[in-house]
Amino acid sequence: MKPLRIALTKGRLEKSTVELLEKIGYNCDEIKNKGRRLILSVGGGAFEVVLAKAADVITYVEHGVCDLGVVGKDTILENGTSFYELLDLGFGKCRFALAAKKGQDFYAGYNTKTIATKYPNVTRAFFDDKNMDVRIIKIEGSVELAPLVGLSDGIVDIVETGSTLKANGLEVIEWVTGISARLIANTASLKLRKKEIEDLQKKLEAVTQ
Ligand code: PRP
Repeated sequence: MKPLRIALTKGRLEKSTVELLEKIGYNCDEIKNKGRRLILSVGGGAFEVVLAKAADVITYVEHGVCDLGVVGKDTILENGTSFYELLDLGFGKCRFALAAKKGQDFYAGYNTKTIATKYPNVTRAFFDDKNMDVRIIKIEGSVELAPLVGLSDGIVDIVETGSTLKANGLEVIEWVTGISARLIANTASLKLRKKEIEDLQKKLEAVTQ
């Protein structure tokens, strides 16, 4: 049978995922020395790993071309869940926050607020919960810039250490929700390759608790 194929989020979560796979005994030299290659063999052929951007990890898993994925809860919350979320891997911990310029009374006044974010669905859900109508502007990166140049009243973004907010004179108005890396599985793979997936899940559970 073909090895299980796992989609890993490249960048921020990559190093911690490799550390975790090594901890449970899988050789990850191909990932560490990947160069520009995108499909890699792990654990001497035990798994095939593909590296992708976070939202694409979900796409590959949903379409069943990857059996498993490692992706942040932020991307899951933004992109929906037509897959199984198997395990909280305990790394990549950060939080979603609503932030604005320091000292600004964000909720003051009756005008509709404008929020810049990379996460429009998360932002919409957060303000819907408050029954508050906002205008959302989608930004692709460095969202903290938007209120500084007057594009928005606030932002909904990821805060890890808080240093980006601090360095730019912004502050947290409200915490939205906690985030961490998750192991996800394609729904069909979970039925067809139950034993292999459960074995890996158990090994990961043992080192993430
Ligand atoms: C993320 C996030 C914040 C920053 C938070 O951005 O969007 O900008 O990290 O981290 P901190 O609280 O530790 O300062 P990322 O580095 O992924 O870049 P991007 O905004 O360009 O996507």
